[in-house]
Amino acid sequence: MTKFDEWLKEAAAQTEKTVYAYLPAEEGYQKTVLAAMNYSMKAGGKRLRPLFLREVYRMFGGSGREAEPFMAAIEMIHTFSLIHDDLPCMDNDQYRRGLPTAWVAYGYDMAVLAGDGLAIYAFETAAKAFAMTPHTERVARCLELLAQKSGIYGMIGGQTADVELTGKPLDEKQLDFIYRLKTGALLEAPMMIGAILAGASEEQVLTVEKMASRVGYAFQIQDDILDLTSTQEVLGKPVLSDEKNHKTTYVSLYGMEKARQDVEMLSAEAAGLLETLPGDHENLSQLIAMLVTRRK
Ligand code: IPE
Ligand code: IPE
Ligand code: MG
Ligand code: MG
Ligand code: MG
Repeated sequence: MTKFDEWLKEAAAQTEKTVYAYLPAEEGYQKTVLAAMNYSMKAGGKRLRPLFLREVYRMFGGSGREAEPFMAAIEMIHTFSLIHDDLPCMDNDQYRRGLPTAWVAYGYDMAVLAGDGLAIYAFETAAKAFAMTPHTERVARCLELLAQKSGIYGMIGGQTADVELTGKPLDEKQLDFIYRLKTGALLEAPMMIGAILAGASEEQVLTVEKMASRVGYAFQIQDDILDLTSTQEVLGKPVLSDEKNHKTTYVSLYGMEKARQDVEMLSAEAAGLLETLPGDHENLSQLIAMLVTRRK
């Protein structure tokens, strides 16, 4: 294991522990939905979004605890997006993070409610940051940003176009819109939140947004590539899901070779933007580089 591999293993484990600390107890008459939420949250996953939040926060000198509720919140929103993405009315997939999807394990009704539950509980959780820092105005701004990037002008907007245009030929502009919103927005949010909470300048927050947008775009192209080239065993989710659903993807539109090249190009652009920022970002830089060659 390289030094970076060791760091990543430890950092991901710590991140997961932070996220778990904010999960709800499975009790009361609504126990089933709480169990379904925790089932999907604990199923695994790379925890990239909270990890990015933490690392950007640290890069800008953040050393308090107010990033922690936001780390949990972004993973809740991401997991909600996956639970709903897998539903029979959306991508109709039966396997996620190495386990049966929430709707297969808990039924369609509970999976819808578990997604709703995580979406709302994310904000209840993030609001706990108000009591953890004197900079409450930063927390307020991050709550608004989290809502924007998750909602109709972010992930939900992207998923809407993705679902509605499924089976139809997409032009470049439509595909671009979908990728920026359905995936890019949920990488922009955590990195920008990390920067804002740590007190980064407006200009720095904008640079972080640009960098995260490149990372998110590359991340979704790589996801499309893996859908065609990997296995369910490695990915923990079905392969050939896009083909099954007659989705236009970056690979189907531009071909595999350009897709691979553009993942590299976008990551290099992100790395270049990162270099213009202050602070220690060696691990962050390696993390971004790793996403190009990621196999799951
Ligand atoms: C999957 O995201 C959905 C996409 C936006 C491509 P991840 O690949 O980060 O999924 P987990 O969290 O590791 O399961
Ligand atoms: C996912 O896109 C984007 C989300 C907002 C969940 P995909 O539909 O390609 O994600 P996977 O491949 O199911 O993880
Ligand atoms: Mg989808
Ligand atoms: Mg899907
Ligand atoms: Mg996919």
